[in-house]
Amino acid sequence: MRAFVSRAIPEEALSIVRTIAEVHVWPGNLPPTREELSQNIEEADGLLCLLTDKIDGALLDAAPRLKVVSQMAVGYDNIDVAACKARDIAVGNTPGVLTETTADLAFALLMATARRVVEAENGLRAGEWKTWSPMQWTGPDVHDSTLGIVGMGRIGLEVARRAYGFEQEILYSGRHRNYEAESKYGAEFVDLDTLLQRSDFVSIHTPLTPETRHSFGLSQFQKMKRTGILINTSRGPVVNQVELVEALRTGLIAGAGLDVFETEPLPLDDPLLTLPNVVLLPHIGSASIKTRTRMAVLAARNLVAGMEGKPLLHPIL
Ligand code: GLV
Repeated sequence: MRAFVSRAIPEEALSIVRTIAEVHVWPGNLPPTREELSQNIEEADGLLCLLTDKIDGALLDAAPRLKVVSQMAVGYDNIDVAACKARDIAVGNTPGVLTETTADLAFALLMATARRVVEAENGLRAGEWKTWSPMQWTGPDVHDSTLGIVGMGRIGLEVARRAYGFEQEILYSGRHRNYEAESKYGAEFVDLDTLLQRSDFVSIHTPLTPETRHSFGLSQFQKMKRTGILINTSRGPVVNQVELVEALRTGLIAGAGLDVFETEPLPLDDPLLTLPNVVLLPHIGSASIKTRTRMAVLAARNLVAGMEGKPLLHPIL
């Protein structure tokens, strides 16, 4: 059998695939173009892909042997799952292994944005630190504040655990109640408007779906406190970025910590980069060595299972 892996991933993962297949790894540091991807899966029985690869029906039609699309990520909005199903192609993702790491990063962004960590460090480097100053580089407290978690799934729950340690009051909204968050961390289930009105920090943990696309825009920012801070480590298009820039510029909200953007990489002429009250990261939520390795290994296991016609460890149904 033949497998195509759309970017270099740890050897630990590749060796799992090599036990059953000839493996071709895309050699570039950048993703294959659509054409390159299409050519490389023409003869493949399995594809291990990343969130930067767009997988749709037209692409799959060029890969008649393909049995499985295994994504090395938990989010899979880049994959047309229905098109895969229609062609009897299994789809897998890597939930679970990146939960805590991503929650750590969400919390790092929350703290960095609130306490102006990046701005202050830039100030130090630029020689703006003339003396210890009573109110320079001050921001809101993280402890004793209210955190609103939008989407209390696996990652949301881990964010709640961290928030509890910081003595934050936790509100959450979403499609599902999470009784563990309620009983362990005292999280209160509220509707989104209430969450927006009461929270000092709003952290988004929903997948990108047609329902959640642009579910955060001016009308949501208007409901937030003017001192409110938005944190997004989910997917960029959940937030209307043009309206976010407007909200940040006009002081509708106080700041934002973002790890994801509507266009990635974030273009260097994006207006977000002109704002002082944002912390912007290059989609590194799951980027610990251990977690990225675990994601690659899990994606490899899903791939092997799919190529062998067995149930995937984490199938997308
Ligand atoms: C990363 O963004 C992931 O979905 O795993």
